[in-house]
Amino acid sequence: MERMVQTSIPKDNQSIHIIDEWVTNYRPFSKEGKNASYIPALEKVNSSQLGITLIGPDGTNFKSGDWDIPFTLQSISKVISFIAACMHHGIPYVLDKVDLEPTGDPFYSIIRLEMHKPGKPFNPMINAGAITVSSILPGDNSTKKLESIRSLMEKMVGKRPRLNEEVFLSEWQTANRNRALAYYLKETGYLEIEVEEALEVYLKQCSLEVTTEDIALIGLILAQDGYHPIRNEQILPKEVARLAKSLMLTCGVYNASGKFAASIGIPAKTGVSGGIMAAVPPRVRNENLPLLQGCGIGIYGPAIDEYGSSVAGVMLLKQIADSWDLSIF
Ligand code: DON
Repeated sequence: MERMVQTSIPKDNQSIHIIDEWVTNYRPFSKEGKNASYIPALEKVNSSQLGITLIGPDGTNFKSGDWDIPFTLQSISKVISFIAACMHHGIPYVLDKVDLEPTGDPFYSIIRLEMHKPGKPFNPMINAGAITVSSILPGDNSTKKLESIRSLMEKMVGKRPRLNEEVFLSEWQTANRNRALAYYLKETGYLEIEVEEALEVYLKQCSLEVTTEDIALIGLILAQDGYHPIRNEQILPKEVARLAKSLMLTCGVYNASGKFAASIGIPAKTGVSGGIMAAVPPRVRNENLPLLQGCGIGIYGPAIDEYGSSVAGVMLLKQIADSWDLSIF
């Protein structure tokens, strides 16, 4: 299928020049992180990759470094599955299954499920919440449920995401912690389908391939409250887009969400393959800063920190947020 976004010539040559410089500066910091080793297929990719795409609502875009290397969505998919579930069932039904509270725990944590009866997952960004959301996606089998995510992505980015079978199998064979979470959710009644079926949907959505351009565009649509500025169409309900952004801000980086909000101040979602999807809303400023109408940002850098976020990617995003005053606060 034809790509929706045309690679337009950046309007601001100075901005693209400076982004190239920042990518070069921050790339060496990948050494401070490590590729996700618990998914063998992610461990072997070149950890010094770093790339970025920024897209504004008028189609302005800046691309730099390894912006076009495909990588798997991993936890960034949790935002898309949550949106798909809300669009199908309505927000109240989904919030009956998952809460909206940060945990202060890692993404794979199980502890709060047992500590707080009746075991409702705290939010849809942690694995327990995301597996629950995957289980309620529309369709009576795993293929149809996955398809609901793929078709929503196709609507947003103009192409159907490829499933990276190698990454899927690599995690499928090693997903003991996620299986434990799913069995617990089954026991407490939050998982209404079979454990293996829910895991198949969840791990396949994590294995859908994107580039920084794709997630920058999804970030832009969220920044515009669900309006697709290139298709000129409201493709997500405003309330759902806002809810997704609030979750990205409060829970998107798990037990680093507070630090991320304080130091960067942009709703964002990270994934262990090294992706960061950020939604920058329009800002009111007098200065002559780039992207005042807001933008979507997609970053890829596979070497991650203890919270599962790209080390060089977070540094690059902070540099941009500081320099261009992107914080929402
Ligand atoms: O469930 C998992 O372990 C992965 N497939 C996704 C985790 C992830 O991306 C966490 N985010 N930083």
